[in-house]
Amino acid sequence: MLSGKTVLIGISGGIAAYKICELIRMFKRQNANVRVICTPNALNFVTKLTLQNLSQNEVGIEEFEIPDFKPEHISYADEADVMVIAPATANTIGKIANGICDNLLTSVVSAFKKPILIAPAMNCNMWQNGIIQENIEKLRKYGYEILEPETGFLACGTEGVGRLCSLEKIFERTVEILNSKKKLSGKKIVITAGGTIENIDPVRYISNYSSGKMGLALADAAFSQGAEVVLITTVDITRGYKVIKVKSALDMQLAVNSEFDTADSVIMAAAVADYRAKNIAGQKMKKTSENEITLELVKNPDILKEISARKTTQKVIGFCAESENLIQNAREKIQKKGCDFLIANDISRSDIGFSSDYNEVVIFDKNGMVKRLERAEKTKIAGQILEVIYGQERTDEKNRELCTAVSC
Ligand code: CTP
Repeated sequence: MLSGKTVLIGISGGIAAYKICELIRMFKRQNANVRVICTPNALNFVTKLTLQNLSQNEVGIEEFEIPDFKPEHISYADEADVMVIAPATANTIGKIANGICDNLLTSVVSAFKKPILIAPAMNCNMWQNGIIQENIEKLRKYGYEILEPETGFLACGTEGVGRLCSLEKIFERTVEILNSKKKLSGKKIVITAGGTIENIDPVRYISNYSSGKMGLALADAAFSQGAEVVLITTVDITRGYKVIKVKSALDMQLAVNSEFDTADSVIMAAAVADYRAKNIAGQKMKKTSENEITLELVKNPDILKEISARKTTQKVIGFCAESENLIQNAREKIQKKGCDFLIANDISRSDIGFSSDYNEVVIFDKNGMVKRLERAEKTKIAGQILEVIYGQERTDEKNRELCTAVSC
């Protein structure tokens, strides 16, 4: 199943290191090439010889033990398709989150551009420590995928959360990443995210509650499936793909237009302000003796409508945030905007939508409702949305291939 794939396993110094021997075997059974890097402390729990025999490869530990002229951290990073750090100790997590590269493992991580899975394991009090949680959040923000530790009996004798998640979970997620990588390769997908910010004066602006999480989840999912991703966002974010930071609707329009011609699809997940201040005051507006003031607004360009009108081969996908009559408004909106798909969500619910990590959406095409996706984490919904948008296309491609093969 994994012939031709290289899985790089990073082991740091925790008791769960012994379990990784079995994880290596699971990948080897599927014909993967397994490379292993240990922190020096990991060798307190498992021997180099064991890991070497199981992986059938030299095990990397020391950064400066260079067998040839290639810098080790670069060659490991170039060779592997995916990296799994398990167990990831609080110390190694802290180093990665802060850009510290003081051993081979942490140096390789900083040079690694492909997906990295991190499976933490530690004592429950350590796991719940605010600083460690902040480091975990930081890693998530930079695109590392965290396989959360589980609750159970810990090596230190207590019950709690901190146990390495199951090897099956690490294995299955790694295989999923390796196999899904190709699905969107060769496609350039442009995604917008976040709420636009329309200045009124140097200290005030008009905006909305959009967190940008749905757009970011779509960008991450598309990237992990091999797409060339361009994320145009109002939120500060760093990723392994191209990110264009914008502020206003006009900035976003410029950025979308500059990427549009070479794109295969554009997904407008951003909450674009419909109006902006007619005049942006150069200085802070002062309070007057009047009880009311009038702020003049002008309409922003409707980016989705514009690109839908000039698209040629591109697929254009819009989002539709509604606080009432979701289905009826979505049906009308897809006709009005002229896009290929519209993803509708109900923003009146506090358990999904705007700043939540969850969403529940209904997908429409021009002929009506295509699919309802039940409430789930935005990361999961993102994968399902891409499946709907590109699933049919893949089936068509397969049918075409089959048709050519039998010359029909
Ligand atoms: N959109 C856009 N440009 C705008 C406003 C919205 O490109 N000026 C896009 C959004 O990114 C989203 C879709 O249009 O993909 C629908 O946004 P929504 O706010 O639901 O609809 P509006 O067009 O703003 O209509 P209304 O506010 O009346 O519901």
